[in-house]
Amino acid sequence: MATVNTPLSVWLAIFAAVSYVGYTVVRRRYFHPLSHVPGPFLWSVSGLPLFYQQAILEGQLMHVLPELHAIYGPVVRISPDEIHLSDPENYDRIHSVGSKFYKDPAFYGCMEGPLKTPIILTVIPNEDHRVRRAVLNPFFSRRSTLELEPVVRGKARKLVELIEASLLSGKEGRPGPGVFDAHHAVRAFSVDVITEYAYANCWNQMDMDDWGAGYQEAIRSVQSFFPWFLTFPFLSSVFGLVPDSVNVALFPWFKKWYDSLQVIRTAVTRVRKEISMGVVPPRRTIFHDLMDPPPFEDEGDNKKQRPRLSDEIVFADAVNVTGAGAETTGSTVGRAIFEIISNPVVYATLSQELREALPSSDPETFSLVALEKLPYLSAVIKEAIRLNPGLPGHLPRVVPVGGAGVTFNGYTVPPGTVVSMSAWTLHHNTEAFPDPERFDPTRWTNAPSPDALRAREKSMIPFGRGSRTCLGQNLALCELHYTLASIFRRFAFDGDGTGRRLGVHPDFARSDLQLVEMLLGYHPRKARKLRLIFESAK
Ligand code: HEM
Repeated sequence: MATVNTPLSVWLAIFAAVSYVGYTVVRRRYFHPLSHVPGPFLWSVSGLPLFYQQAILEGQLMHVLPELHAIYGPVVRISPDEIHLSDPENYDRIHSVGSKFYKDPAFYGCMEGPLKTPIILTVIPNEDHRVRRAVLNPFFSRRSTLELEPVVRGKARKLVELIEASLLSGKEGRPGPGVFDAHHAVRAFSVDVITEYAYANCWNQMDMDDWGAGYQEAIRSVQSFFPWFLTFPFLSSVFGLVPDSVNVALFPWFKKWYDSLQVIRTAVTRVRKEISMGVVPPRRTIFHDLMDPPPFEDEGDNKKQRPRLSDEIVFADAVNVTGAGAETTGSTVGRAIFEIISNPVVYATLSQELREALPSSDPETFSLVALEKLPYLSAVIKEAIRLNPGLPGHLPRVVPVGGAGVTFNGYTVPPGTVVSMSAWTLHHNTEAFPDPERFDPTRWTNAPSPDALRAREKSMIPFGRGSRTCLGQNLALCELHYTLASIFRRFAFDGDGTGRRLGVHPDFARSDLQLVEMLLGYHPRKARKLRLIFESAK
């Protein structure tokens, strides 16, 4: 019998392993500083349930979190060292300017494996981040967005013309006559905007037959590594040692990812050379601001020079800006288009507002300042970002080291505890947003009281808040205003459906818009892609 022949050393090893697991479970559950925080048993003793939701089920944690809060209350232990909060009152305590909470190095560090570079999003010490962010801020300020508004306007016009051409005649290499591939086209729009805006070197994905789908898939796929690296950090180091050619052989989509990195690297080298030769660019780009930052005035009105950043940091921040600016905004534009078209009241109300405010349907005649004054358009955008936040999942921070810890809803947790909150959970807070999955712009235009509106604003955190808030918020909102105004002014609601009212292709359902999350929010791989038709063609 096998038991008779099994050497004693094997039994001892099994005994040691079982004892270690038992000891760890008991310690984490009953003698851990977070043992008083409620949460499911398995989640409190092991990181594997979280790994299972993210890696095996593909980004499902965001959907499980509201369920856990419904059972365990506003503070839930979601792994041995992490708690998740659902009370919006806690948000500003963690995410304010000057907050001493810092990003969780384990969570953000795991992104640096595939990216092979420390991007601004993943810088941990708040002081280091402040220096890097100060250089980028002016480029994405409200003032810069208004100066570069023509970039967005031009791309929005192109998008509308492509929709029109595709629906009227079709175009070679694209879906046949009468069908428009909105899923990839709106993402191509966002990539073209950010590359033109930041580098003055548009990637022209809107001109490609596949709308740059390969790159879009690459930035999605690269994130599927994150939960693996988070749970098994040694994999990240191993990955860093693997030559790019091997990665491409194993995962062909890496090719598009590396191609995009190469384009950015080449631009860094070119601009560095031009700066050293004193070449004056037709317009400054993000590279010029990072490599040769303009002087600024300090509080005493003295001219000061910002520190010059290394090429590696310039490259890293450019990679971050491109990746962060593509899927987030494109996917929100797509969701907005679907919701508007699917609801005749929303479609008709928006069309009427746009017709009355905009005499011409040519986007070249629009201005951001005028579009922002349209209350219904703004409410539609808010609902789209609420239901489709670019980063819907948990974004962990660490309770500052030193001091007595922090109390959340009656639970005191020690320094070093990982604390997270999620846009998805807050945007589905039923007190602020009754029937939260319903797309209803009147939540923002006709709130029952000023207090109700304040509660809604408090629960809206699509761009985060505080010093780590989204860098591209102004640009993202500009893109949303321009695309939606341009599309729905041109293809306005016609009442009887016989004109050029847009419709959703019958081979697409609301369930295809369900989000999964690996930092960025995505539609599941098997989901069908949003395509548009003229309603009269149905
Ligand atoms: C609807 C569109 C967008 C949403 C919902 C969104 C959301 C966010 C959120 C929540 C964060 C904070 C992440 C964290 O706490 O870890 C963030 C960071 C960031 N976003 Fe966005 N984003 C959007 C569009 C953009 C665009 C267009 C850009 C292009 C410039 C951009 C660039 C960035 C960058 C560089 C960061 C890192 C900032 C830092 O750590 O200092 N985002 N974004």
